[in-house]
Amino acid sequence: MLDRTHNAPDLPPEIARRRTFAIISHPDAGKTTLTEKFLLYGGAIQMAGQVRAKGEARRTRSDFLAMEKDRGISVSASAMSFDYKDYRFNLVDTPGHSDFSEDTYRTLTAVDAAVMVIDGAKGVESQTQKLFEVCRLRDLPILTFCNKMDRESRDTFDIIDEIQENLAIDVTPASWPIGVGRDFLGCYDLIHDRLELMDRADRNKVAESIEINGLDDPKLAEHVPAHLLEKLLEEVEMARELLPPLDQQALRDGTLTPIWFGSAINSFGVKELMDGIGEYGPEPQVQPAEPRQVSPDEKAVTGFVFKVQANMDPKHRDRVAFVRMVSGHFKRGMKLTHVRSKKAMSITNPVLFLASDRELAEEAWAGDIIGIPNHGQLRIGDALTEGESIRISGIPSFAPELLQSARAGDPMKAKHLEKALMQFAEEGAAKVFKPAIGSGFIVGVVGQLQFEVLASRIELEYGLPVRFEPSQFTSARWITGEKIALDKLEASNKQHIAHDHDGDPVFLTRLQWDIDRVERDYPDLSLTATKEMM
Ligand code: G4P
Repeated sequence: MLDRTHNAPDLPPEIARRRTFAIISHPDAGKTTLTEKFLLYGGAIQMAGQVRAKGEARRTRSDFLAMEKDRGISVSASAMSFDYKDYRFNLVDTPGHSDFSEDTYRTLTAVDAAVMVIDGAKGVESQTQKLFEVCRLRDLPILTFCNKMDRESRDTFDIIDEIQENLAIDVTPASWPIGVGRDFLGCYDLIHDRLELMDRADRNKVAESIEINGLDDPKLAEHVPAHLLEKLLEEVEMARELLPPLDQQALRDGTLTPIWFGSAINSFGVKELMDGIGEYGPEPQVQPAEPRQVSPDEKAVTGFVFKVQANMDPKHRDRVAFVRMVSGHFKRGMKLTHVRSKKAMSITNPVLFLASDRELAEEAWAGDIIGIPNHGQLRIGDALTEGESIRISGIPSFAPELLQSARAGDPMKAKHLEKALMQFAEEGAAKVFKPAIGSGFIVGVVGQLQFEVLASRIELEYGLPVRFEPSQFTSARWITGEKIALDKLEASNKQHIAHDHDGDPVFLTRLQWDIDRVERDYPDLSLTATKEMM
């Protein structure tokens, strides 16, 4: 068994007890249900159903969220903090739909681990795969929860094989299911040698836990019918032979994932998973930055913005910058340096996102996520420090894959539309390019659905009807290089040139051929598909 104490004895205890993670899954696998049970056991809500109920109430406020409901996707991401046992969990929600993958990518830069939820009957689905690939880019540690074991599900070895093969990650069972579908009895906890029995009569009741002295303990037969026990013993023996043991380093490197089996709706297996996050999920990690990385145990406070959400409350036109604290002990009222503008900012109204509501954050430690209301000064990628000039690295902006022209439904409102579009560009919800010639804007997104969400939000939040029309361009590349070469390119290719919301020049392309031509004719310039946000 692994050492259950914290893995970072040198960190201040308040930091060492923090676990900041996201849940990734394919829609319908049970992310919302699992989140709800997390909050329930974290004492953040009193009864199951509140998260969904709160969601419904929020949704009635705008069609944008109604659209989210219709499509069964979660468009907006948020953060929730709660205590569980000795731990402080910070759960960062990710949009599950692939059309929002850039947003998801940035959200995942703010966490130290991810919980991957899969449906026991469906295995690894397309969105799981995509989100997993994003985690892999950062070698994030992954803990897996195989949900809906109360229903007919696939053979346990099949599920494990599929994860190993499709995701190219080793899997080690933390628990082993006993029986399937209607015969599903519970799990054998392989880490703590316990039998966990599911109670079908009461969905909110935590499983009965029976201490077992190893798999040859005769006590097992008192609770597990002979045919199921025989199968369990056989399977566990095989699993121990064929599958790797739980190696903490491999888990931290993102090359091995422990898997728990359970049923979120029946509250089954959830606590074991939470214990697993506490015991094995890493404490706040070092943050890559320039000119030096930032370590969580540093005294000075450092944080960075990974998400900006505008108009969270339509009654107050506020923007909230979600900040991941990277080091130190932040206290409300602190003056921090906004590195990009080199200006001091007094952080007087930071909020913590407790499940029940937003609350003023009197303090925050490395690992925490706080929200800072602001009027647009804070942008994605911005660093806040106690004076040091640090640039957080690894938060890219991706070239959009779909471009459309945006026009105000009412030509008199073009200026208003510009303002709305710029705000969404700063929020990271879309790329907005102002062409060098002609009027209007070109809006770039990763997935088609984003256009619909944008149109709906612009209409709701700004009262502006907007039309998105096909554009002759299919992609965009940021241009960098010598000014002389840039001017020359701009002068002779005006119809391809535009500027993004930061004023940086981009080259709008129709075909790969356009890019090849520029690269051939302008060897001093480079065209890139990503831009580091700063
Ligand atoms: P998501 O956020 O990943 O999209 O999934 P969500 O939690 O909304 O769950 C999707 C559906 O799966 C829900 O049913 C939910 O009740 C069900 N579900 C979640 N966990 C389990 C489980 O352990 N076992 C079983 N059998 N079902 C589970 P729904 O019918 O879409 O919604 P509802 O009417 O139940 O709210």
